[in-house]
Amino acid sequence: METPDTAAEAALTEQVVARLAGTPDPRLKTLMQALVRHLHAYVREVEPTEEEWFAAIRFLTDTGKMCDGLVRQEFILLSDTLGVSMLVDAINHRHASSATDTTVFGPFYIPGMPDRAFGENMAATAGTPALVHGRVCSADGTPLRDAVLDIWQTAENGMYSGQDTAQPHGNLRGRYRTDADGYYAIRTIVPVCYPIPSDGPVGRMLAATNRHPWRPAHLHFMIDAPGHRTLVTHLFNQGDPYLDSDAVFGVKPSLQVAYEERDAGHPLASRFGFDGPFREARYDFVLEPRVLAPR
Ligand code: BEZ
Ligand code: FE
Repeated sequence: METPDTAAEAALTEQVVARLAGTPDPRLKTLMQALVRHLHAYVREVEPTEEEWFAAIRFLTDTGKMCDGLVRQEFILLSDTLGVSMLVDAINHRHASSATDTTVFGPFYIPGMPDRAFGENMAATAGTPALVHGRVCSADGTPLRDAVLDIWQTAENGMYSGQDTAQPHGNLRGRYRTDADGYYAIRTIVPVCYPIPSDGPVGRMLAATNRHPWRPAHLHFMIDAPGHRTLVTHLFNQGDPYLDSDAVFGVKPSLQVAYEERDAGHPLASRFGFDGPFREARYDFVLEPRVLAPR
């Protein structure tokens, strides 16, 4: 039932929305007016006390203070753990084509990592040796030569190089290229599951909501080929215990691979320099052609 108080609250929302009506950029106007409507609707729904509202502001302030620009990006963690990153990803990759599914970018990518030869080992730290290989093709099946695969994964201690300063520069990171037939090959170690950083406000939010911080084991890919949309995705280890409860909601069934056991006598062992048992994962990526905007 509308009372004089609730009528004044509704009028306040409309007053703020009207104040934004003169925003020159039409997209910014849409974004700002919708933001105000939804924020006000949230406040109307939960009716926070003034203490609760100041606690929310303190939480966002702490989140900003936790960011250091390069290695720690607490706002990305917040967006990821609230499922917003995956929602933005889904909205921007609605496609009926056969292109490989996308997933979250995450906060641990570092540009400018070493260029690596076909099959080069990117692991300078211990782990179960592995070969990850396959093809990169366009949606019509044409193999893509010279596609660049920028890769990153954690060491066995669950930390990325850069995040963990004890690891050598470029450890478990690198830029590989496909050969003339669209094949890529990466020598590495089998990825492990790891917890996202939980020593900041996002960790406090996870603990207060009875959630764990773990991500299932995965290898990150950002793949670029001329004339195609950049593909940002992961390959998740089949059978990982956290596939159904990823802290950042990034798992898709199409992105799971098995790391099969191989022995030193396997033909791939001599080709890629394994002198003992190793694991093999095979995965073919499909990139979506970039649609040119009509002139
Ligand atoms: C990652 O996989 O690197 C990651 C993704 C989202 C949040 C934290 C880490
Ligand atoms: Fe990761």
